[in-house]
Amino acid sequence: MSDAAAHAADLRAQIARHNEAYYGADDPLIPDADYDALVAELRELEVTHPEVAVPESPTRRVGASTSVLFAPVEHAVPMLSLDNVFDLEELAAWAERVQRGLETTDELTYSVEPKIDGLAMSILYVDGELTRAATRGDGRVGEDVTANVLTIANVPHLLVGPLAVGRIEVRGEVFLAKDDFARLNERQRREGGKEFANPRNAAAGSLRQKDPTLTAQRPLSFLAYQLEVVTDTSTLAALTSHTDTLDLLRHAGFLVAPEATREEGRTAMLARSSWFEDHRHDLPYEIDGVVIKLDSFAQRARLGTTSRAPRWAIARKLPPEERTTRLLRIEVSIGRTGRATPFAVLEPVLVAGSTVSLATLHNEDQVAAKDVRPGDLVVVRKAGDVIPEVVHHVSEPGRRRGRPWRFPTVCPVCAAPLERVGEESDTYCVNPQCPAQRLQQITHFASRGALDIEGLGEQRVQQLLDAGLIEDVADLYALDVASLAALDGLGELSATSLVTAIATSRTQPLSRVLVGLGIRHVGPVAARELARHFGDITVILDATEEELAALDGVGPVIAASVASYAADPEHRARIARLRELGVAMTEERVSSTLTPTLAGRAVVVTGTLAGYSREDAEAAVLARGGTSPGSVSKKTYCVVVGESPGASKVNKAVDLGIPRLGADQFEELLETGTWSTTLP
Ligand code: IVH
Repeated sequence: MSDAAAHAADLRAQIARHNEAYYGADDPLIPDADYDALVAELRELEVTHPEVAVPESPTRRVGASTSVLFAPVEHAVPMLSLDNVFDLEELAAWAERVQRGLETTDELTYSVEPKIDGLAMSILYVDGELTRAATRGDGRVGEDVTANVLTIANVPHLLVGPLAVGRIEVRGEVFLAKDDFARLNERQRREGGKEFANPRNAAAGSLRQKDPTLTAQRPLSFLAYQLEVVTDTSTLAALTSHTDTLDLLRHAGFLVAPEATREEGRTAMLARSSWFEDHRHDLPYEIDGVVIKLDSFAQRARLGTTSRAPRWAIARKLPPEERTTRLLRIEVSIGRTGRATPFAVLEPVLVAGSTVSLATLHNEDQVAAKDVRPGDLVVVRKAGDVIPEVVHHVSEPGRRRGRPWRFPTVCPVCAAPLERVGEESDTYCVNPQCPAQRLQQITHFASRGALDIEGLGEQRVQQLLDAGLIEDVADLYALDVASLAALDGLGELSATSLVTAIATSRTQPLSRVLVGLGIRHVGPVAARELARHFGDITVILDATEEELAALDGVGPVIAASVASYAADPEHRARIARLRELGVAMTEERVSSTLTPTLAGRAVVVTGTLAGYSREDAEAAVLARGGTSPGSVSKKTYCVVVGESPGASKVNKAVDLGIPRLGADQFEELLETGTWSTTLP
């Protein structure tokens, strides 16, 4: 066998294996883009070496042969595939070919629609009644999945009006919307079932169930994009364009892509196809491309089809969000909370338009579950703004794999032990002085969502740490131009602007400081809530867990975290230093429209007050700007004593000489912030 013939045979064998996995088992081994690349390579080889081509080559077939699970169905009109282009230039070239084919220089009318990543389906209606549904199969013969398709909620079983005539086939895509996919995987996780790699697999797996009651439990949808009229009828013969057809399908109750538009001329068509690229992540379903079709049926008829695909339509594939590449090694990075995150160092690969050479592996359990090992071929996914991740490894028959990777036991930066806490999957570096943690903490403090100090990114922070100019976020506010200007790459000018940027950040609102301090679980929403309610960082530090938890958007987990943060003397010292160095850490309080008669005052309520539950009484104090701690201390403003009070609280108040008020004084206290009588 020649080299080319051997290469072609190898490619065909690989493609056959992937076809079986994709169509047969609904469990693809590699991303579509890599599959496409294999087919393209084979096609190229068959063109350059025609002697290696064979009649049964996968380059000449559409889809898979059918399985034994479902009865075969011969399509009345073959279900074709689409030819692909990969960029705007190729798309423009297609449009030009179409114009040449139609022997016109006139601008044409196109339909531009999402290419949904699901499963092609043909649904036959006879006199308006859903009679049969079939998968595409190899394009000529598909599988009868009628019972399963009948369980899809948005598929009409009965049609009325112009479509309730003769035999028609509504063709479209069965898919899982992104939300539904997330919910399904959530359920699989809960019930210990297998999670699906992506919505397409989940849809395919759900549809090809022998038992339709299983399909019925999966939130599948159907989107219609084509109508085949099998027996001629006068009403439908009057349809002359794709846009009219889509309108008709929509009126008949089918879901039709709301994003599908008719575009006049090539420029508008190209622009619309780019719109899909920009908005792919805003759509409720996953798309792997854009389909552009000639709108006019007369023009379509003149162009015709090849054996595989129509000449009047084209798929513009969007940059694939999953690719395979080689995993070189696994390393661990330390975040600002000390969390040790394993990540993959990869042979660089182009994914979703950018080169990826690092991808997260999340945590130890994920590495184990995915069983990824150094040396493996892995699938990498990068979608939108999210961090690239390793999805799974690709099995390579005949190749010896490396040893399973073990999570390191010590921090790669400071060599302190790495530990897992409780039931969590996360591992932490236990050393609070860890330089890696410090670097990340300071970088986070300066970042855009926090103090927003321009010019203070990770590298600059590292430089300041290395030079011994800072050890802590508070040190930033003591930096001077002279010492900064002496650093490499920082002249007088940049040093001055950095010092100015730092100085400006002193007046950032409290909520940003709270985010910047990196208190566990305190994100921007909780930070804003805390800041607006308490107004000053010292009030937050002195609040009890109950007071914190009483806030909207705070809850027990965040409250506990804030309280434990506040209990650490080191944290308190840092905050005191920040204040000394002029960082405001205050915010205007807006949570209450009531006069803050108790601003900053701690009112302890013990026993029951008529007309107030325990929570109501606390909330009333908080609404007046006060706090309502659960115990009496020398900082307590007063103690309100209700029915059956706690003896220890009353006694402590007496000991410390804290004013005690009767329940009848509570309203007055709220209104005025003071009282007219105290208990003897
Ligand atoms: S039209 C003869 N329109 O893409 C034209 N196909 O790669 C037949 N697809 O088999 C297809 N969205 O499963 C068409 N708006 C759309 C589509 C679409 C997704 C799928 C369909 C087809 C495959 C071709």
